Amino acid sequence: MHSLKYLLLGLHVLSSQANSVIPIENFGAPGIDATYDYVVVGGGTSGLTIAARLAETSGATVAVLEAGGLYEVEAPLLSVIPGLAAAVNTGTSPDDDSLLIDWNFDTVPQTGANNRVLRYARGKCLGGSSGRNFMVYHRGTKGTFDKWAELIGDTAWSWASVLPFFKKSTTLTPPDMSKRQSNASIFYDPVGFDNSLNGPLQVTWPNHGSPLSTYVEVGLASIGLLPDTDLNTGTLNGSSWASVTVNPKDQSRESSETSFLDQALGNSKLKVYQHAFAKQILFSGTTATGVKVDTFGVGYTIKAKKEVIVSAGAFQSPQLLMVSGIGPQATLQSKGISVLKDLPGVGQNLMDHFLFGITYRVNVVTATRLLLDLVSAADALTQYLAQKGPLTAPGFGVIGYEKLPASANLSNSSRAALDAAFPSDWPDVEYIGIDGIMNGWKNADDQKVDDGYNYGGISAALVAPLSRGSITINSSKMEDPPLIDLGYLTHPADAEVAVAAFKRTRQAWAGTDITLGDEYLPGPAMDTDASILEYIRETLVPVWHPSGTCKMGASSDPEAVVDSNGRVHGVKNLRVVDASIFPVLPPGHPQSACYMVAEKIAQDIKDGN
Ligand SMILES: Cc1cc2nc3c(=O)[nH]c(=O)nc-3n(C[C@H](O)[C@H](O)[C@H](O)COP(=O)(O)OP(=O)(O)OC[C@H]3O[C@@H](n4cnc5c(N)ncnc54)[C@H](O)[C@@H]3O)c2cc1C
Ligand SMILES: *[C@@H]1O[C@H](CO)[C@@H](O)[C@H](O)[C@H]1NC(C)=O
Ligand SMILES: *[C@@H]1O[C@H](CO)[C@@H](O)[C@H](O)[C@H]1NC(C)=O
Ligand SMILES: *[C@@H]1O[C@H](CO)[C@@H](O)[C@H](O)[C@H]1NC(C)=O
Ligand SMILES: *[C@@H]1O[C@H](CO)[C@@H](O)[C@H](O)[C@H]1NC(C)=O
Ligand SMILES: *[C@@H]1O[C@H](CO)[C@@H](O)[C@H](O)[C@H]1NC(C)=O
Repeated sequence: MHSLKYLLLGLHVLSSQANSVIPIENFGAPGIDATYDYVVVGGGTSGLTIAARLAETSGATVAVLEAGGLYEVEAPLLSVIPGLAAAVNTGTSPDDDSLLIDWNFDTVPQTGANNRVLRYARGKCLGGSSGRNFMVYHRGTKGTFDKWAELIGDTAWSWASVLPFFKKSTTLTPPDMSKRQSNASIFYDPVGFDNSLNGPLQVTWPNHGSPLSTYVEVGLASIGLLPDTDLNTGTLNGSSWASVTVNPKDQSRESSETSFLDQALGNSKLKVYQHAFAKQILFSGTTATGVKVDTFGVGYTIKAKKEVIVSAGAFQSPQLLMVSGIGPQATLQSKGISVLKDLPGVGQNLMDHFLFGITYRVNVVTATRLLLDLVSAADALTQYLAQKGPLTAPGFGVIGYEKLPASANLSNSSRAALDAAFPSDWPDVEYIGIDGIMNGWKNADDQKVDDGYNYGGISAALVAPLSRGSITINSSKMEDPPLIDLGYLTHPADAEVAVAAFKRTRQAWAGTDITLGDEYLPGPAMDTDASILEYIRETLVPVWHPSGTCKMGASSDPEAVVDSNGRVHGVKNLRVVDASIFPVLPPGHPQSACYMVAEKIAQDIKDGN
């Protein structure tokens, strides 16, 4: 780790970009009871977005209660510099170094992953997981949102209806080809964006196209994925250089904090409480009236005249509902919680993606060099200061999507199960070029194979998973972490798709000419379906997309927790607005939908819904 630490030290001295102050007019005073129109629990991706939009409404006052602080202050550089975000503190080992800006959750033993307990990254900071993520920004397909609308019985969530909210949240800046390698040029369709709306969230491309990814594109093309497809206009079929939430001015991380919160600063209607841990939602009868809060051991109450909006993420939004008396009756009673509303769906329907893949030694320079070699690290630093080079890119470049072709030999029963659950434009698999070693990603040290070679991966993620997990409570206290079961690979069709996708990555590698020697990991000897599945179970890594644990649906759906405006069924003045309300997990990377959901429900509230 020495060279990395050296590099961080250098960057620390030179960094001056941290937006490290919340101005006094936006500062909520912890420890003191207060009342607002809206109280938003969780200043994460969706939370800051809806809070900023509500504060724009004339007259309404809004408080944000966020358990963490500013990531620029509490984890400078590691959070701000895209190329470092992926390299550190996202390991799956429960022993991985912990960060102040992360909840450092561990799952329960995962039966589909050889009973491994996985460390699971979640942002604990303003920005939430948008302060921790790998910054890929793209959207699901037309059919994704049409399916969403169909499942909940409300056309207000169809692709045509939600596209305006994707656009409203974002501003697109074209790639800077004066700083990017000329052989990593980018195709995109500008109709996915409307910059005249001045969307707060910056979307662009890094000023670096991973050389490895230039070949991943070739490899994927060799198995039938067309290059240069657009990922923001409602189709996911073929490959593309992923657009990212990076600030085009300085190539630093863009999050809900640097975008929506930043834009709202100066508006004294919005107050931000940092290190404000929500312990319980307070009710009068079945009407939510406020939140019990703790800041460094000091308890206080923040009251809501209009609504409490829970945006604590897919693990803690259902947890907060449960400890406040809303959830499966038997679970609540077993923990001594009095039941306000029996909602069996709270904590159920957990959907998530996981990643696995194949590693080779390659004859191009990859990011594995950065971690080992001081000269490369110093060079990367020098380049970053000129907004160039590998540190501008969050670890990968080209991603691709496909429905598995007939030649992948999926069984008829698996194909039928997928076809019944997902629309025809919804891909089965995402492929990701990884500038590193795919072998369980226990911690950053996994990447340190110091033998002079460069390593690269082509990995696959199931983006139409049929397996479901759940979260539940271990006690009546918010302080006790929830019990997280991701449910990976518990549906037989997923196991079959995973093996087929693994074989596709092997074929994609064969279509490149940068490999040195035999397949490095897992190695060519691993060639039976059973051994491949075993390798996947042993090495899969989360892509950190949990969702669905307070799913949206009509009140006639016993598993539904919120209605199509995010209002919790059976109680008043309480909404949930974040990834937990997704009735489907869009294929690929979900942060775009977290911003969209918050934009849309902010509009619903303004419209009186
Ligand atoms: C390592 C990693 C990589 C990822 N990569 C990508 C990617 O490249 N592209 C992509 O699209 N998506 C990515 N994701 C997923 C994406 O970031 C999340 O889906 C999204 O940010 C979730 O938003 P949210 O609003 O639901 O929750 P969050 O953004 O997690 O917000 C929840 C907030 O609530 C706060 N909170 C929780 N409990 C309490 C409490 N009791 N009191 C007060 N505050 C509380 C938390 O601290 C947090 O700030 C990644 C995620 C991770 C962790
Ligand atoms: C693209 O350029 C890089 C150098 O920046 C080089 O290493 C790589 O081989 C090139 N890729 C292709 C596909 O030619
Ligand atoms: C699919 O089945 C055919 C016919 O049995 C076989 O030739 C081919 O190798 C199989 N493909 C894969 C990816 O297993
Ligand atoms: C699978 O479906 C195809 C076409 O729908 C059919 O020809 C084939 O016989 C089926 N295979 C099995 C094993 O049922
Ligand atoms: C993806 O694109 C290819 C090439 O245009 C096409 O043949 C295929 O049907 C498309 N797949 C889907 C699921 O739309
Ligand atoms: C659940 O609570 C029990 C009893 O307090 C404790 O021993 C256990 O470690 C907790 N489990 C988790 C996963 O936190």
